[in-house]
Amino acid sequence: MTQVVYVLNGPNLNLLGLREPEIYGHDTLDDIAGMLEDRAQSLGLEIDMRQSNHEGHLIDWLHEAQAQGARAVLINAGAYTHTSVALHDAIKAVQLPVIEVHLSNPHKREEFRHRSYVGMAAMGTVAGFGANSYIVALEAVARL
Ligand code: DQA
Repeated sequence: MTQVVYVLNGPNLNLLGLREPEIYGHDTLDDIAGMLEDRAQSLGLEIDMRQSNHEGHLIDWLHEAQAQGARAVLINAGAYTHTSVALHDAIKAVQLPVIEVHLSNPHKREEFRHRSYVGMAAMGTVAGFGANSYIVALEAVARL
């Protein structure tokens, strides 16, 4: 059976393509999903891509990934990265490899983006490569 990788996206990422393109690029979330699906297929994986503007959905989906026996979770938690102790706890609660993903490099940006509650719990982080951050994170999962 093909192993599923959950790809969870947080607030405002539904606006990718329109939102601050000088920072986040011109690819939409659907474009990124397409790129990930192609790469997943060649790696023998399947992706389940989701987006929500609500913190609790991201937490529920982490729990679901564990219950469904997912291979791993890629998570771009958007601004919840820098605020959510609840997401930090959820990542620690699930026994799955969770990889933090960002389009931009938060460490090159405002100071309030330098703290990542997600990164403090995740297995690793890929940031700063635009849409390719997701692809690199998926490739890391395939090598685990
Ligand atoms: C982001 C970085 C966050 O600081 C920001 O709040 C986002 C997007 C990124 O992918 O670069 O919403 O997660």
